[in-house]
Amino acid sequence: MLREKRADEIKAILAKYPPDRKRSAVMPLLYLAQEEYGYCSPEAMREVAEILNLDPTEVKSIVGFYTMFFEHPVGKYVIDVCDDLPCALRGADKFVTHCERKLGVRAGQTTPDGKFTLRTVMCIAACDRAPVIQVNRVYHYDMTEASFDQLVDALAREDGAEHVNPREE
Ligand code: FES
Repeated sequence: MLREKRADEIKAILAKYPPDRKRSAVMPLLYLAQEEYGYCSPEAMREVAEILNLDPTEVKSIVGFYTMFFEHPVGKYVIDVCDDLPCALRGADKFVTHCERKLGVRAGQTTPDGKFTLRTVMCIAACDRAPVIQVNRVYHYDMTEASFDQLVDALAREDGAEHVNPREE
C-alpha cells in the first residue's frame, strides 16, 4: 500500500497544502503512486482518493485528462513524439512512421520486451525545435531519424541513465 510504503513522502506532500486545500495534492500524489506502481492502477487511484477524501471517479478523470499519467502499464521508456501542427509542418508524421518502424510497434503500443512505449502527443511547448520528443519527461530537440535510432540503441543497451526513474533502478 502506498500509505505504508511512501508514508514520509505522502506526509511531506500533504504538508505543502493548507488543511482545507488538501485535495490540491492530487497531482503530486498521483506522480508518487505512478512512480511506485509504474502506472496509475485502479488500486493506486483508489488509494490516492482515500488519502485525500476524494471520490475515486474524480481521481480517475484527472488521470484520464493528463497525458503524463498512465492508466495502463507502460514500457521502461515512454517515448512521446509530438505530432501537433508545428511539428507536423516539420515532418512529424514521417518521423512517427520512422519511430514505429524502428521500434516495431505502432504509436500507442509497447514493445514485447516491455522496454519502450511509443505515443504521439499534443504540443509539448518546444515548437521551435521540432521535431521534438520526450523520453520519460526528458526533452530531445531537433530530432532526425538518425538521432532517434542512436537514442533508442543507447537506451536498449541500458545506456540511458538520465531517463530512468530512480525507483526502477
Ligand atoms: S507542436 Fe510540437 S512542440 Fe509544439
